[in-house]
This record gives sequence, C-alpha cells and structure tokens, in this order.
Amino acid sequence: MSIRILGISGSFRRQSFNRMALLAAAELMPDGMTLEIADYQDVPLYNQDVQEASGFPEPVLRLAGAIAAADGVLFASPDYNHSIAGVLKNAIDWVSRVEPQPFVGKPVAMVSATIGPVGGARNQYELRKVVASVEGLCLVKPEVFIGRADTRFDAQGRLVDEAARRILGVQMRAFGAWIERLRPR
Ligand SMILES: Cc1cc2nc3c(=O)[nH]c(=O)nc-3n(C[C@H](O)[C@H](O)[C@H](O)COP(=O)(O)O)c2cc1C
Repeated sequence: MSIRILGISGSFRRQSFNRMALLAAAELMPDGMTLEIADYQDVPLYNQDVQEASGFPEPVLRLAGAIAAADGVLFASPDYNHSIAGVLKNAIDWVSRVEPQPFVGKPVAMVSATIGPVGGARNQYELRKVVASVEGLCLVKPEVFIGRADTRFDAQGRLVDEAARRILGVQMRAFGAWIERLRPR
C-alpha cells in the first residue's frame, strides 16, 4: 500500500540541515513510502483578528490541506534557543484553528539536526507536547537526533554519517508500520 508523507522543516534556510535530513529520510523510506516537502514560507504571523475578520490566509489553508491529504507528517526542525523554531510553531498555531483540524489522529514522526551536540532534542520534546495538544499521534521510538550536523552531511547535502543513516532508516520503517497500525479500516 502507498504511504504519502508530508515533510515539514522548521528551517527555511537554503542549506538547512533539517531539510537535508528530510531528503535523507525520503531516501531511506521503505518501498511504497514517498515524501513531499511542505512550502509554507508565506504563512503570516498568527493574528486572531485577521482570522476573525477575513478568515484563513490561503497559505494556511494550503498547508492544512497538505497535512489532511498526507498519511503522516514528518517534522525536521532545529533547536532554536533550546525550543521550537518560531516559524514552525506559528504554522502549527494557524493550522490548529482550521476546521476540521487536520492533525487530529494524524501519525507524526520527528527528526532534528543542529550544529550543537544535543541534536535538537530540546525542541523535539517541546514539539511532542504541541503535537499531543493538536491530537496528532507521535511515533515514540526510535528518536533521531543529528548533533554536530555540520559534520554529518557532505557538500551535496547528503547524509553521510553511517550511524545517523542507520537510525533514520529504522525510524522510517517504524513510521511506516505506525501509519499502517493507525490506518482506519
Ligand atoms: C535563532 C537561533 C537559535 C539557535 N539555537 C540553537 C540551540 O538552542 N541549540 C543548538 O544546538 N543550535 C542552535 N542554533 C544553531 C542551529 O543548530 C543551526 O543554525 C542549524 O544549522 C539550524 O538548522 P538548519 O541547518 O536546518 O537551518 C540556533 C540558531 C539560530 C539561528
């Protein structure tokens, strides 16, 4: 059965290690699993007045639609000051107000990459709380933290660290199984 994953990066940087991690995850996914990366750079800052006066901006509805259409969401995001990158939290806040709210019951997994040694663990634990609040269903294990990311990817942006590739491959197989387990029958 085919499994379509929406990748959401918490970094808009052109040479983002987290975007590279999403591409590595796609490469390591089992047959039948595919990845599309969300482009949500045009989501504005959340303002409830805007929502109430003129409804949801088109980029928000586009992102919500992409989440709804996906079989699972894979987040890849750095720690920003030991927490979730603002652009990502902002996008989740917008989407959380859309009806029907697309994260409800949605299988979710996450990976993170930072140039620091902790590899984004701090933002992942914050993000897990947020995903629980929007009723997404987070894969518990394996966790994937790519620390010292500047040494794990080559100049072409390919994940070359063998240990990181191995655990990311295990995670993608576990994510596929998690999605199948949660799939409505
Ligand atoms: C605003 C800001 C805050 C950051 N905070 C942290 C941090 O708390 N921990 C960490 O390891 N790296 C931190 N970094 C460095 C990031 O790990 C590094 O910029 C990384 O490349 C970001 O991910 P990206 O490559 O996907 O853009 C921070 C970077 C920025 C710009």
